[in-house]
Amino acid sequence: MLRNTASSWGPVSRNLHWLIAVMIAVQVPLGFYMNDVYKELIATRSNDYSLLLQVSQLHHTNGFLILILTTLRLGWRIGNPTPELPRALVAYQRHLARLTHVFLYALLLAFPLSGWATLSAYEGEFPIYFFAWEQVPRIVPQAIDGSHAPYEFYAAIHKACWRIGAVVLGLHVVAALWHHVVVKDNVLNRMLKGG
Ligand code: HEM
Ligand code: HEM
Repeated sequence: MLRNTASSWGPVSRNLHWLIAVMIAVQVPLGFYMNDVYKELIATRSNDYSLLLQVSQLHHTNGFLILILTTLRLGWRIGNPTPELPRALVAYQRHLARLTHVFLYALLLAFPLSGWATLSAYEGEFPIYFFAWEQVPRIVPQAIDGSHAPYEFYAAIHKACWRIGAVVLGLHVVAALWHHVVVKDNVLNRMLKGG
C-alpha cells in the first residue's frame, strides 16, 4: 500500500521525506564550499574556473531536484490523508508541530527558488545548470544596467533561508527525538518504518 492512511505514512511519503533530508544534508555544505571556492578564486586572482563550475553544477542540479521532489511530495500530500498526531498531545503542541511543517515546506520551496533567482539576476554570464543543461531559463530579469544589487538582494534571501532553516530544522529534529525518547510514542517510528 503506497498511500498514507489516517494513522500511518505510506512508503512514498516516508521515502521522499528521508531522500530530501539527505539531499539537504549534502546541499548546505556544498553551498558553503561553493562560496569558499569562489572567494579563493578572487583572492588568488586565478582564471581557472573549472572547480567552481563543477561545484556549481552539483549545487544547482541538486537544488533543482530538491525543488522537483518537494513539489511531488506536496502533490502527494494533498491527494492523501495526513496521519493524525497522537491524541495525547495538547493543542499548542499540535499547532507548533503543524506550523513547523508548514515552515519547512515553505523553506524547501524558497531555498531553491531564491538560489535560482540569484543567478537569474546576475549581471554577468554564469551558467544555471540542470545536469548538463547550462542554460536553465531565468526566473527574474537579469540586471542589464550592470548593477550587482539585484544579485545581492536574492543572495541575501538565499542566505537567510539557511539561518531561519537551521533554527526550524533544529526544532523539528529535537521534537522528533523528544517524541521518541521522552514521550515514547510512535511519531518517529511511523516516519521511519510506517505502521
Ligand atoms: C534546497 C536547495 C538549496 C539549498 C539548501 C542551498 C543552500 C545554499 C547555501 C547554504 C549556500 C551558502 C550560503 C552562504 O555562504 O551563506 C548557498 C549559496 C548559493 N546557492 Fe544555493 N542552495 C539551494 C539551491 C540553489 C539553487 C537551485 C541555485 C541556483 C540554481 C543556488 C545558487 C546558489 C548561489 C548562486 C549561491 C552563492 C550566493 C552568494 O553569492 O553568496 N542554490 N546555497
Ligand atoms: C532537511 C531535513 C528535514 C526536512 C526538510 C524535514 C521536513 C519535514 C516535513 C515538511 C514534515 C511534515 C510532513 C507532512 O506533514 O507532510 C516532516 C515530518 C516528520 N519529520 Fe522531518 N524533515 C527533516 C529531517 C528530519 C529528521 C532528521 C528527523 C528525525 C530526527 C525528522 C523527523 C520527522 C518526523 C518523525 C515527521 C513526522 C511527524 C508526524 O508524523 O506528524 N525529520 N519532516
